[in-house]
Amino acid sequence: MVGAGPAGIYASDILSKSGLEVSIDLFERLPAPFGLVRYGVAPDHPRIKQIIVALHKILDRGDIRLLSNVDYGTDLDLDDLRRFYDAVIFSTGAIRDAELPIPGIDLPGSFGAADFVSWYDGHPDVPRTWPLEARSIAVIGAGNVALDVARILAKHPEDLLPTEIPDNVHQGLLASPVTDVHVFARRGPAQVKFSPLELRELGHVRDVDVVVYPEDFDFDEGSMAAIHSSNQTKQVVKTLTDWTLKEPEELTASRRIHLHFLHKPVAVLGEDHVTGLRTERTVLTGDGSVAGTGQMHDWPVEAVYRAVGYFGSPLPGLPFDEVGGVVPNREGRVVEADGEPLRGVYTTGWIKRGPVGLIGHTKSDATETIKHLVSDVEDLPRAVEPDPDAVTAFLTERGVGHVEWSGWMLLDAYEQSLGEPHGRERIKVVPREDMLAVIRGEG
Ligand SMILES: Cc1cc2nc3c(=O)[nH]c(=O)nc-3n(C[C@H](O)[C@H](O)[C@H](O)COP(=O)(O)OP(=O)(O)OC[C@H]3O[C@@H](n4cnc5c(N)ncnc54)[C@H](O)[C@@H]3O)c2cc1C
Ligand SMILES: NC(=O)c1ccc[n+]([C@@H]2O[C@H](COP(=O)([O-])OP(=O)(O)OC[C@H]3O[C@@H](n4cnc5c(N)ncnc54)[C@H](OP(=O)(O)O)[C@@H]3O)[C@@H](O)[C@H]2O)c1
Repeated sequence: MVGAGPAGIYASDILSKSGLEVSIDLFERLPAPFGLVRYGVAPDHPRIKQIIVALHKILDRGDIRLLSNVDYGTDLDLDDLRRFYDAVIFSTGAIRDAELPIPGIDLPGSFGAADFVSWYDGHPDVPRTWPLEARSIAVIGAGNVALDVARILAKHPEDLLPTEIPDNVHQGLLASPVTDVHVFARRGPAQVKFSPLELRELGHVRDVDVVVYPEDFDFDEGSMAAIHSSNQTKQVVKTLTDWTLKEPEELTASRRIHLHFLHKPVAVLGEDHVTGLRTERTVLTGDGSVAGTGQMHDWPVEAVYRAVGYFGSPLPGLPFDEVGGVVPNREGRVVEADGEPLRGVYTTGWIKRGPVGLIGHTKSDATETIKHLVSDVEDLPRAVEPDPDAVTAFLTERGVGHVEWSGWMLLDAYEQSLGEPHGRERIKVVPREDMLAVIRGEG
């Protein structure tokens, strides 16, 4: 198994209970497991971060061996894995931003949400500092990542202190002069992808007002059908509509999150730094889509964050679908460009089906993939060196300092001990070398 996010851990768990006599190794490029649950879920969502407790229990049983700090593609490749295993499952997720090909998107001051998330969640492979110099900021996109980014940008940093945010992130946020965050949805209020709970939460952020604009509210036939057919949409629309009823004198907070609908991003403005965002007013076309009206609006913002989705990365030795950003597969069986299955190679999670869906969805996904693996088992190509010691000897010979579960347990305990005197559950250790020093008892 390659990738110790929820998809890889659930798939390992399901495989271990499949009735096959099986030995499972779970490779992970980072020193710490849990993927986006540790490095994506917002720090002020401790309830969701608690999913780590369930994932931890699975790995703590001892029948699935974690081999972290091992990068597939650098430290070993598919031929290496085939030497040691009868089957390989890729669950490498997605960590980078989808592109938004509009003029000015590469200007300084224009950022990808995924990069910002990696920074505030303390991912070891991104820079430690983040330029938070803008008073007025645009966030493009109307999904839950856009909400996370807008909320973290707008929240007063002291309200994040009880969470596990690393010190460098707290310091960075303290320096931010932000007063206004503008979120832009290209479609209407009934087409946003916010979850009801996450949206309502915006209304409860201390000293941050949510501002909506009645002229952005339009519900065509398609919108009404969406509202009637989905309870989620109904709740989201109700929350948004309730906010239109706020009186101006109720808006007293020192910071604001503005939600704009029917505004399609057209260009990021500026010469050598972002000075604005140009959007085009759109209209609903009856089927959930929108059309441009030609009416432009320039917003004087000093930074732009695009939260228009994540995108998977190609894996050496495997086919890759450049349009969907996934490893091509049929229900988890990896297939070549000609449609032929790559025998013994499987995939699950976001790299299998694209970067949408909640943590729980990776479980059903894993069930499907493992069902096929189990039914293929008689025909799998056999490993030449199946002995579990062979792969660790190989890694050691290559100079790869792999980390096992006991190593993570040391880091886990250390992070918790950092948090304890401050009444915090943990404080994350961020630099990779510091994580490894703790794991190796040098911290
Ligand atoms: C910002 C953000 C917030 C989210 N918040 C929530 C939330 O609150 N609630 C919710 O239910 N869902 C949330 N999600 C969705 C959830 O995170 C995903 O559904 C889930 O993490 C996908 O699991 P995965 O295992 O496929 O991928 P990931 O979680 O990305 O795990 C993939 C793992 O593979 C590893 N890997 C990658 N490449 C290699 C390689 N070459 N070699 C070895 N290892 C590798 C990665 O380091 C990572 O650990 C959020 C997503 C994002 C982006
Ligand atoms: N708390 C949570 O539960 C939580 C937190 C974060 C993430 N997640 C989950 O993680 C997954 C990924 O979230 P996400 O927010 O990255 O993706 P998402 O839900 O797919 O939202 C992406 C948003 O970007 C917009 N967009 C895409 N291309 C665009 C373009 N060219 N111009 C303007 N807007 C564009 C989309 O608009 P259109 O709809 O018009 O295409 C959509 O509003 C989701 O399943 C999400 O629920 C959950």
